[in-house]
Amino acid sequence: MTLLYKSDPERGSAWRALFADQAPDIDFRLWPEVGDPAAVRYLAAWAPTPDVYAGLPNLEILFSVGAGVDQLDLSQVPPSVTVVRMIEPGLTDGMVEYAVFATLALHRHMLDYIDAQRQARWQSIRLMPAATRRVGVMGLGVLGQAVLRRLATFGFPLRGWSRSPHVIDGVDCYAGRDQLPDFLGQCDLLICLLPLTPETRGILCRETFDLLPAGAGLINVGRGGHLVESDLLDALDDGRLSGVVLDVLNSEPPPAAHPFWWHRRILLTPHVASMTRSDTGAAALLDNIRRHQAGQPMQGAIRRDLGY
Ligand code: NAP
Ligand code: GLV
Repeated sequence: MTLLYKSDPERGSAWRALFADQAPDIDFRLWPEVGDPAAVRYLAAWAPTPDVYAGLPNLEILFSVGAGVDQLDLSQVPPSVTVVRMIEPGLTDGMVEYAVFATLALHRHMLDYIDAQRQARWQSIRLMPAATRRVGVMGLGVLGQAVLRRLATFGFPLRGWSRSPHVIDGVDCYAGRDQLPDFLGQCDLLICLLPLTPETRGILCRETFDLLPAGAGLINVGRGGHLVESDLLDALDDGRLSGVVLDVLNSEPPPAAHPFWWHRRILLTPHVASMTRSDTGAAALLDNIRRHQAGQPMQGAIRRDLGY
């Protein structure tokens, strides 16, 4: 039985060594060395093209090497193939770290202080206690909930929004489009940790910004497709938003003339909030293969009808 890997070759070599050591019964192959295509039951990849599936007649599971699956064209994945996204502690820890950094950066006025430093201005801004800064997270999945747990330790009042209802200790939970305005109306800092689906594409738009308290901050660590970039620039220009941290963009990298590069109220990072770690990622992949072999449910199997 073969597991075929088609993604970042450096991680692939590390995973091959780990599988050779811990799962010698699995024939781990690095693309393009497929071996016998009929033996390939598992494919671990980022964004395979349709011709890859066509060459693998007995493929059962497609494992995304990342948390997201929006990079896949699900309509091209054969219907018999189960799609599984990555859930692993290294990826979660990375996202928690980044979301805390970005939240504290906006909470503690770091965009203003970077600006002031560049202008040799020594000027303080009154501290606002964490207990008065309401933080809201869109997306109450693996990552959103982990971020909320850590943010709770700072004392921020917390709320969250998801598709289906949730009950989370210490978090005011809202669900569905009907409850979106009530949720947004109380988010001084809004963090987007949604998957990109037809439902969520463009959700960070003018209507959303209009519903936030004046001068709110925004952190997008979901996907660039969540954000309507021109609406963001308008909201920053007229002060509806005060500061933004973006880790993901529609075009990565953005074109050389893109206004985000120089915007004083935008902090940009190159899609680095979180990454699948070699060691913990391989362990999660192997655990899922063992679950599948034992006929047990796998962690992170997606609902293709919902796109996440
Ligand atoms: P997840 O466990 O699948 O959680 C997704 C959450 O979004 C769930 O709470 C879900 O609601 C909610 N949701 C989905 N569609 C919705 C809708 N139409 N309206 C309201 N809520 C909706 O995903 P995850 O592991 O937390 O990851 C979330 C995303 O983070 C990934 O898809 C990826 O895009 C992004 N990500 C970014 C980076 C980075 O480096 N920037 C790294 C990793 C992941 P229910 O709970 O009701 O299902
Ligand atoms: C990264 O963005 C991921 O989806 O893992």
